[in-house]
Amino acid sequence: MIVLGIETTCDETAAAVVAGDRSVLASLVFSQLAEHAPYGGVVPEIAARAHLDRLDGMIAEAMAGSRLGFAELDGVAVSAGPGLIGGLLVGLMTAKAIALVHRTPLAAVNHLEGHALSVRLSENLPFPYLLLLVTGGHCQLLIVRGVADYRRLGTTLDDAVGEAFDKAAKMLGLGYPGGPAIERAAENGDGERFPLPRPLVGRAGCHFSFSGLKTAVRRTVESLPGASPTAEEIADLAASFQTAVGDVLCDRTANALAAFRGEALGARRLVIAGGVAANAYLRARLAALAAARGFDLYAPPAALCTDNAAMIAWAGIERLALGLRDDMAFRARARWPLDPDAEPALGAGVKA
Ligand code: KG4
Ligand code: ZN
Repeated sequence: MIVLGIETTCDETAAAVVAGDRSVLASLVFSQLAEHAPYGGVVPEIAARAHLDRLDGMIAEAMAGSRLGFAELDGVAVSAGPGLIGGLLVGLMTAKAIALVHRTPLAAVNHLEGHALSVRLSENLPFPYLLLLVTGGHCQLLIVRGVADYRRLGTTLDDAVGEAFDKAAKMLGLGYPGGPAIERAAENGDGERFPLPRPLVGRAGCHFSFSGLKTAVRRTVESLPGASPTAEEIADLAASFQTAVGDVLCDRTANALAAFRGEALGARRLVIAGGVAANAYLRARLAALAAARGFDLYAPPAALCTDNAAMIAWAGIERLALGLRDDMAFRARARWPLDPDAEPALGAGVKA
């Protein structure tokens, strides 16, 4: 099965062609960083227009790279939510047009399912597994029982972890996206220098909270003696922040590992996915946790962790193989929980 994937949920325009044997025939990602940089964050209207400008050309380029014609596709998969509605409409309408004209099956994919299944594109990993999903908009622990079959154990009560990285980086003058910038700055830093809070650590359950940590970073920056932080202070604060995030993720994931074990599913697999899973320090922390609890850790390569269309094409392959097709009536969904039965988490707002 060969599927074209399209990704336009946020500020990356992406197109990819992937085959059922896990070969990625083409994968292009265009980051709109420069368009949004003057505003210090993603501007939804600018994102939608940039997707519109770029997407057709990128699909043509991905198809050329795969050396296939549209008639040879077995499906078109598109992220139809959750995300910014303007970008979602651009991607979904484009996918529908291709599906209609070339009489190709359509798969409207939940972007989070793309992340959740991305590890199965990089390796032949069976279900079930425990998933720590960490992106710019989400931070969740889920039991992945199968395609379209998720049980949420926990979610963030306020900010997503990637968002916390981005905001902390901004306070340190490190620019956007903050995750890679903090990781780089932290390499030479002392993670013990600044005492920062570990929200919810030691408490029961699998929910997360990051807003207190973010506020503590701001207060720490304000309390520094100079007009602006020195390179050493930036490195130490970045490292202290990353260490605190690592403690929080490990504590919450430890509870989820116990819950997963309690389900007696027989499997001992922990997966991390999403943009923040590209972080080598956090991967190492979670690998150590998993090993201590008798689990194996799996994580897709970094390029499959941050937003891309190959994971959307792959989710489409998995769905279409099970006969899960969508039709022209499918509407883009700005909000779209992976586990529709999960209780709304207090204060989670639009991010649940
Ligand atoms: O999955 P993703 O590409 O997009 C969303 O679906 O949100 O995740 C983007 C997030 C951003 O917040 C970015 O700062 C974070 O992932 N990120 C990282 C790293 N690379 C990207 N966070 C920590 N360390 C990294 N190396
Ligand atoms: Zn994403």
